[in-house]
Amino acid sequence: MEVVESLPDLVLKCKNAFAKEFGCDPIVGAKAPGRVNIIGEHTDYNDGYVFPMAIPLYSVMVGRYNGTSKIRIATSAEVDNPKRVEFDTPSKENPLTQGEPKWANYVKGVLHHFSHDISGFDAFIISNVPLGGGLSSSASVEVVTCTFLEALTGKSLLLADKALLCQKAEHTFANMPCGIMDQFISCMGKANSALLIDCRSLETKTVTLEGGKSDVDDSVAFLVVNSNVKHQLSGSEYPQRRGDCFKAAELLGVKSLRDANMTALRDKRDELGERVYKRGLHVVSEIERCTKAVKAIEERQLEELGRLMYQSHVSLRDLYEVSCPELDELVDITMITPGVYGSRMTGGGFGGCIVALVKASQAPKIVEEIHKNYSKKATCYVFNGVDGASQIQL
Ligand code: GLA
Repeated sequence: MEVVESLPDLVLKCKNAFAKEFGCDPIVGAKAPGRVNIIGEHTDYNDGYVFPMAIPLYSVMVGRYNGTSKIRIATSAEVDNPKRVEFDTPSKENPLTQGEPKWANYVKGVLHHFSHDISGFDAFIISNVPLGGGLSSSASVEVVTCTFLEALTGKSLLLADKALLCQKAEHTFANMPCGIMDQFISCMGKANSALLIDCRSLETKTVTLEGGKSDVDDSVAFLVVNSNVKHQLSGSEYPQRRGDCFKAAELLGVKSLRDANMTALRDKRDELGERVYKRGLHVVSEIERCTKAVKAIEERQLEELGRLMYQSHVSLRDLYEVSCPELDELVDITMITPGVYGSRMTGGGFGGCIVALVKASQAPKIVEEIHKNYSKKATCYVFNGVDGASQIQL
């Protein structure tokens, strides 16, 4: 099992890196977690339900005003070079624009939407959320930037507004038309819990996942397995899927696929065409699976939850076509490994991770089986839910 660097260690590393880079100590800091989505995939931009959990992998940002009209940001993350950028403080007349290096666009996008009136500052960003691993590395960078800016300027945002601002940054500066799930859970995660999010009303329900008094028996765990195949979502696939969904909704005469049902889809099958029909089938069934899964957790029907997870994977693989051979291979391995209730690919797809519901006592054995049978090198974690983003006292 992967041993994850603790948050205090990560913060210390970030403070030291800042001091080395800028020659003084940082004054303000922030952290924002990554996430794993338990079920409800590619439903958020269809106004549906999602069920993510914030995980103890974080982006951390520390810094201070520098008394100049320059903003200087550095990172130690494994990103495209250069690892340090410098630009003029933005103004209404001279707003920020996207450019190279790409990693800085997440930071610039948030800055752009946060304020046009900010003094020069220096900051350092560190993250142990694997890049392109489907655990929301980009949302955690956006949310940590926004939380850092709140700490720096004293201006604070409502959590939902903060998540929406970060989503807008991703749309406008990273060209990725994502839904709201990742930014939302990074802002609003709760310790030992997952969050059922209604992506239409933005209402949330906290479902506790650990301990004797909880909704899930404490003898189960969520095992996250990184296939170590990097996904690349800003490519054409994600916007294409989104486009197919919007087309389906339009042809069905509904606002979004949240309002569609199986009968309506079947009735319009010819008009939709096979591809759009399949996308619709996935989304409509996945929204239903997500609410059923939460009910199953609340009623401790773990076999049922496991079944729903497997069904979700098959639907993502065959109908939505966003899986890849390595993710399928990992799910296949878990299917024949004792102690696994169910598993599925998690996140946008085309690489990244699977999430499996397992008997906690058998997790080490299951990990062993995965390492033995997977054709590439997997990284395995067991996570509990953690709280969402916050400022940190340095
Ligand atoms: C990515 C997007 C999310 C969501 C998932 C798929 O992570 O950022 O908004 O659409 O894919 O569920």
